[in-house]
Amino acid sequence: MTQKTPETNRYWVLSSRPSGDAFDRALDLEEGPIPSPDDGELRVRNLYLSMDAGTRMWMTPRMDSYQPPTPVGAKVEGMVIGVVEKSRHAGYRAGDLVRAYGQWADYSIARPLASYVAVVDRDESDLRDYLGLLGPNGWTAYLGALEYGACRAGDTFVVSAAAGATGSAAGQIAKIAGCRVIGIAGSKEKCDWVTGKLGFDEALNYKETDVADALRDLCPDGVDVYFDNVAGPILDAVLSNMALFGRVALSGLITSYGAEEPVPGPYKFDMILMRRLTITGFFSPDFYRREPEINPRMRAWRDEGRLLYRFDEVEGVENTVAAYSKLFNGGNTGKVVVRVGDL
Ligand SMILES: NC(=O)c1ccc[n+]([C@@H]2O[C@H](COP(=O)([O-])OP(=O)(O)OC[C@H]3O[C@@H](n4cnc5c(N)ncnc54)[C@H](OP(=O)(O)O)[C@@H]3O)[C@@H](O)[C@H]2O)c1
Repeated sequence: MTQKTPETNRYWVLSSRPSGDAFDRALDLEEGPIPSPDDGELRVRNLYLSMDAGTRMWMTPRMDSYQPPTPVGAKVEGMVIGVVEKSRHAGYRAGDLVRAYGQWADYSIARPLASYVAVVDRDESDLRDYLGLLGPNGWTAYLGALEYGACRAGDTFVVSAAAGATGSAAGQIAKIAGCRVIGIAGSKEKCDWVTGKLGFDEALNYKETDVADALRDLCPDGVDVYFDNVAGPILDAVLSNMALFGRVALSGLITSYGAEEPVPGPYKFDMILMRRLTITGFFSPDFYRREPEINPRMRAWRDEGRLLYRFDEVEGVENTVAAYSKLFNGGNTGKVVVRVGDL
């Protein structure tokens, strides 16, 4: 793609709180001047926008999430890869390629004092990896499988949203650790991809299969590790099939991010006691500082062809909302990114 550097800034604004996944009715694309950074800030020309399911929570008014809600009328925030055009922070220079929290826009204002801004290597074979295997999705997969899930060779490992940005990596890392891996995903194509290309042992299409029954058949000795990306009914189905002393690595709750009413806890809560389970929630910003330890391993597995990763790339800032919707309607396979500019 050859693209001119934009002379104005197109950006998405949260015009109202979305209902369900009707994002197109709640978010508006506006246009204005290229933003100027204040002291301590950077102006970044965005190359890629990362579409992340967890950001859905910021669009709700709930105050007890991990981040305060985005005010109605504010620009929509998210992770980006981009080039620093103007720096008013001593730690960054114009020309640096960075991964930062910015805005769904042509240009971002990044605030290193408020959230981690990483300078990344221009020579990486695929810059998008900094939003995938070498970014929060990858670290979540790595730590969720190996530390919070504590998976070991011979374990039965189940992962939901298995064909997505986080789940596809988590299942492959569990395979590398020697587990038997079962993915749960929402279509035959996704199930075929994780078993045919990614090396998962089994996959269940939760839209056509009774997950609890299928797991009972597939795992007579129970599930040792459940990497949960979705919660809701699938969590209940897996809980009733956990092995004694099993571990649930609670990565995400995509079934309830848009909930407008209180969400009940798992109906199978009693299994935590009956099976002596450990359930641990974990959150990638808590372990950003472990990037130097995790990324060399991820890179090595990627380069050896043991860890495959697929991008679902959408072109153009104007298509961001359509790209984001895929996470909630299951339209994506792999990591959704929006390409908005050239290096
Ligand atoms: N803890 C952390 O730090 C961390 C970091 C990154 C991501 N996460 C979590 O990981 C999960 C996946 O996020 P992602 O950004 O990697 O997106 P993703 O997996 O690439 O895309 C989301 C997928 O979730 C599935 N899904 C959507 N609604 C569903 C429902 N009601 N029931 C079952 N599956 C549903 C869809 O696949 P199907 O076709 O299979 O339904 C969709 O493709 C999210 O819960 C997210 O919050 C957590």
